[in-house]
Amino acid sequence: MKLGRLNHIGVATPSIADSIIFYRDVMGATKIHDPFDLPDQGVKVCFVDTPPSTGSGQTESGGTQIELIEPLPGNTSIASFLEKNPKGGQHHLCYEVPDIHAAKAEFVAMGKRVLGEPRIGAHGTLIFFVHPKDMGGVLTEIMETPRSEH
Ligand code: CO
Repeated sequence: MKLGRLNHIGVATPSIADSIIFYRDVMGATKIHDPFDLPDQGVKVCFVDTPPSTGSGQTESGGTQIELIEPLPGNTSIASFLEKNPKGGQHHLCYEVPDIHAAKAEFVAMGKRVLGEPRIGAHGTLIFFVHPKDMGGVLTEIMETPRSEH
């Protein structure tokens, strides 16, 4: 496994509109992208940028994003997450890898439960999820690094 940048932290919310106000007014976010639907995954998503660090001793990676996730009608996985966590909450971590198919093969070889085939994710590149029970309790999204971010 070739660990890449922490691309985003997925946060489920019952209302992206309310969460945008929270990240803008409470957290001071200045770059909040337009929400959009991912009908194949039954969700509406919205990315909030956190800026790169300007301090010393930091990694070279740019800022990480928060991925706000709201279920579309008929969604089951995010909807059931919100039943257990009505105010929303941290849902998954997403790491970049250079080669999605190589990463999938490596997780499978390590006995990890990969959830489905690689498919197009919110950034337009291939992604897959790995079961939290095989990942120290963390639902983990693996995403091929977007070319435009190089
Ligand atoms: Co995600």
